[in-house]
Amino acid sequence: MKLEKMTMPEGFLWGGASAANQVEGAYDEDGKGISTFDLIPFFTKEERATRKGLPSEISENEIESVLNGVTNHINFPKRRGVDFYHHYKSDIALFAEMGFKVFRFSIGWTRIYPTGFEEQPNQKGLDFYRDVINECKKYNIEPLITMSHYEIPWEVADRYNGWESKETIDLFLNFAKTILDEFAQDVKYWIPFNEMNMTLISPYHGGGIIPERIKSQNLMSAEFQALHNQFVAGAKVLKYGRKVNPNLQFGCMIARLETYAETCKSADQLAALRQEQMNVFYFEVAAIGEYPKYLNKYFIDNDIIFQQSEEELSLLKENTYDYLAFSYYNTYVKSSNVDEETLDGKASGNLVDAQPNAYVTISDWGWPIDSTGFLITLNKLYDKFRLPLFVTENGLGAHDVMKEGHVHDDYRIAYLNDHIKALKEAVEDGVEVLGYTTWTAIDLVSCGTNEMTKRYGFIYVDADDYGIGTYDRYKKDSFYWYKDVIASNGKNID
Ligand code: BG6
Repeated sequence: MKLEKMTMPEGFLWGGASAANQVEGAYDEDGKGISTFDLIPFFTKEERATRKGLPSEISENEIESVLNGVTNHINFPKRRGVDFYHHYKSDIALFAEMGFKVFRFSIGWTRIYPTGFEEQPNQKGLDFYRDVINECKKYNIEPLITMSHYEIPWEVADRYNGWESKETIDLFLNFAKTILDEFAQDVKYWIPFNEMNMTLISPYHGGGIIPERIKSQNLMSAEFQALHNQFVAGAKVLKYGRKVNPNLQFGCMIARLETYAETCKSADQLAALRQEQMNVFYFEVAAIGEYPKYLNKYFIDNDIIFQQSEEELSLLKENTYDYLAFSYYNTYVKSSNVDEETLDGKASGNLVDAQPNAYVTISDWGWPIDSTGFLITLNKLYDKFRLPLFVTENGLGAHDVMKEGHVHDDYRIAYLNDHIKALKEAVEDGVEVLGYTTWTAIDLVSCGTNEMTKRYGFIYVDADDYGIGTYDRYKKDSFYWYKDVIASNGKNID
């Protein structure tokens, strides 16, 4: 038998990603309603330092004051995004110039159903996404649609406390059915929910839950109720979507939190294993259709009670996902005797903070940079589930400087180069990867910190945290570099 090393498959889906609330802007145009994210103001660095959790975790009082217009916070960057709503044609043309094979974007629920409760969808919202899809198709770019990138209609959060209530399942299903009926013949790849683990980390952000209003016996129960409801909604979406078009491919997505034990001490290894279980159980549900047994103990130990019926559990079992999607930014460190909450000098990271890792460098925002962790994660997930993987986010948030139309982002090129190298190595290991969409295709408003200053794209957008700028687009050095990566199917990566 002649053995040959695996290489990047032909037709590999190279591209970039975005999210409606971070790029579109036009938050009140053409019938769009108010979403939970439209209410999150900009907090300065100093304000962010004194807030607990993500800045997007705003309190009931803060929401009320925004709604009543009695707040000092008058800057709402996500309402502006980078005005993709009016630039999508020229932006997608730039993605095509880079050679994108796939463009990941989300559909704003409130563009289709402004409050979530309408009988009929908003035609102008559907027209916008139809145009975006058509533009992609014009350049043979495969659209990858996230149905819900966190935000939900404000009215659904207000009336039902978001995903804490079972009623939200049907409202979401109504929205999902509408967009599947419209677009399922043109769009093959779908992700019902962005990073499902956010619901347990940041309740307003991931679940539209206002903690002061929970009906469950404690916050963790409300979060698990919301997560379970999202799983049930996802299963119903898959069931319906497969009827509309049996060729559709559905992915369950999490933020991958690859965690190292601090030392080889068995207690640290166990702590890291526990952390791993709490990150990977989403994929157990997605791939196997069951909550893993270890969660029983976790529920008992943490006094977590939520409603789940036999019928819902059968739905999960009968409607498992086609591929596993995840974002990967950095790795984490876990020890058995350190409380991250009170830790001094902790490392930041996507979604959560952790102990620092002395063996890696960090980004401008303090996120560890660890491409080997990416290789480990790709191998681990594929070994465990044997389902195709889709890397739907990976990239570097940095301070970019634009001078006379040029941005020399060699640091971004270095980050992506190392991660794509790891991706290629994983493919050689036999890991099946469908595609890789960098975060992001174009600069956008940061999700966690709501700023423009933190840039991720190949295309620079001239706008600052306060919306000052021309919103003109400039190609960064990484634009030309990524174009070569795609043209050579990754062969130019050293
Ligand atoms: C992911 C989110 O968790 O991280 C994106 O899906 C987000 O929406 C990305 O933008 C990077 O995080 P941040 O806070 O730097 O924008």
